[in-house]
Amino acid sequence: MSYPNNIILVGLMGAGKTTVGRMLAKHLGMRFIDSDHEIERRTGVKIPLIFELEGEEGFRNRETAVLSQLCRMDNVVLATGGGAVLREENRKFLKQSGIVVYLRAQVRDLYQRTRHDKNRPLLQTADPQAKLRELFGQRDPIYRQLADIIMDTGDQNIHGLVRRLIQKLTDGQASNMQTLTVDLGARSYPIHIGAGLLQQAQLILPHLAQKRVAIVTNTTVAPLYLDQLSATLAQQGVSVLPIVLPDGEAYKNSETLNQIYNALLENRCERKTTLIALGGGVIGDLTGYAAATFLRGVPFIQVPTTLLAQVDSSVGGKTGINHPLGKNMIGAFYQPQVVLADTSTLDTLPGRELSAGLAEVIKYGLIRDLPFFEWLENNMDRLLARDKDALAYAIRRSCENKAEIVASDEREGGVRALLNLGHTFGHAIEAGMGYGNWLHGEAVAGGTVLAADLSQRMGWLSEQDVERTRRLFQRAGLPDHAPDLGVDAYLDFMGLDKKVEGGKIRFVLLKSIGEALVTADVAAD
Ligand SMILES: NC(=O)c1ccc[n+]([C@@H]2O[C@H](COP(=O)([O-])OP(=O)(O)OC[C@H]3O[C@@H](n4cnc5c(N)ncnc54)[C@H](O)[C@@H]3O)[C@@H](O)[C@H]2O)c1
Repeated sequence: MSYPNNIILVGLMGAGKTTVGRMLAKHLGMRFIDSDHEIERRTGVKIPLIFELEGEEGFRNRETAVLSQLCRMDNVVLATGGGAVLREENRKFLKQSGIVVYLRAQVRDLYQRTRHDKNRPLLQTADPQAKLRELFGQRDPIYRQLADIIMDTGDQNIHGLVRRLIQKLTDGQASNMQTLTVDLGARSYPIHIGAGLLQQAQLILPHLAQKRVAIVTNTTVAPLYLDQLSATLAQQGVSVLPIVLPDGEAYKNSETLNQIYNALLENRCERKTTLIALGGGVIGDLTGYAAATFLRGVPFIQVPTTLLAQVDSSVGGKTGINHPLGKNMIGAFYQPQVVLADTSTLDTLPGRELSAGLAEVIKYGLIRDLPFFEWLENNMDRLLARDKDALAYAIRRSCENKAEIVASDEREGGVRALLNLGHTFGHAIEAGMGYGNWLHGEAVAGGTVLAADLSQRMGWLSEQDVERTRRLFQRAGLPDHAPDLGVDAYLDFMGLDKKVEGGKIRFVLLKSIGEALVTADVAAD
């Protein structure tokens, strides 16, 4: 899928959307439309009069109606009104319609540019500068979370600004990047998916609170990607502290966590230093937990480099470490600022690890997305051949499913538990076989087959559908049955799982392919 072909400018009044938009459209040979001007053209009156007659609510209704139409057009640079982002439905239209660019300016500059303008109804107050400050506080986080690109307008001249913006737009298009949002109010964050993202500093810079980061990675990933990411940031004046840990699930523990704290403290890292996790799920979980706890919380960015981490562990904010008595027993919910899933990094991933990631991809199809399951049946060979477009599609679809679930149930009070399909059995398999012998994804595949069998015994899933599930795992290079640990061992290991509530094990089972449910109503035999 290619990038949408409209460019949407958002930002406060006075940020320069109309001037920049007009010039940008001219350079790119696109049509320019200003949504406020369009409302005035259609109503035949100026905006202040609409506010006077219909109030802000009446104006916003008109704005929504106009945006819903403009967003369906093609090859347009669209300058939006400052408050266009306030309604969720508008944000959806804008996001779906094109690349969203936030023109960000300081309140001081906004005031200078708007103070003689009588066509801004919200600024007709005794203290317009205070009003602008209030609007900035309210809207800046919304613009940030919506934007694919943030441009600080500063003092630079308009030609320079437009040139830089065109550069950013072409960088993004060259990589065919796609962006989704995990919608968690003020803690929302973008997930960028595409090839070559490690070279794109502009995807990271707007999320840094200071020009200092610690990149946490391991001895396998460091020689492959640490220099690349460090150079991208260093070229922009960001100082980088590399923290290279030993590789493996066996090191996802308190000793390794302490190595991160030690490096951060010895190098006097501060509350504003961002931790960047560069690696698979182990590095992501460890780094996220370090970020949640170091100085009671520092900013954190995920740069996942395994398929499993790109489709699952880097999204949703679960962080943590293992305890000798159980996996992921110590942890915190802590959301990243941004996730960069660079599909180029998958080129070096061992085949077995690619397959392990596919287990979590198949999981989304099974629990809530039958069309995706069917797509996987038809495209498994392309995925195994690492076809970039197929991988990007599978990652996007997986992240969309996860983002929707996480947005509606961040802390696993309900529907998020469905993501644990195969995991209660899977954790028992991982522990029972000895951590590291079965990869997490392999154990999830084995666990899912057990869950499918149990669903059939409950009278829900048909035999054909159990077989269909087995076959897809098999084609993905994954186990299609669970190891025989013995019932007692399974019950023992599962008793330690976090999915236990009031002494009862809660299972995620399948009603059909594409529909899952949680139940504690399963007899031990
Ligand atoms: N937080 C969550 O929501 C969540 C969800 C699912 C899984 N997890 C956790 O994720 C972990 C599993 O993650 P994983 O499967 O990514 O394992 P992993 O992090 O151990 O990575 C697998 C292997 O691939 C190597 N590697 C990583 N990127 C590479 C690349 N681009 N090229 C070559 N080698 C590369 C790693 O060094 C490692 O040896 C488990 O600890 C699991 O509990 C967490």
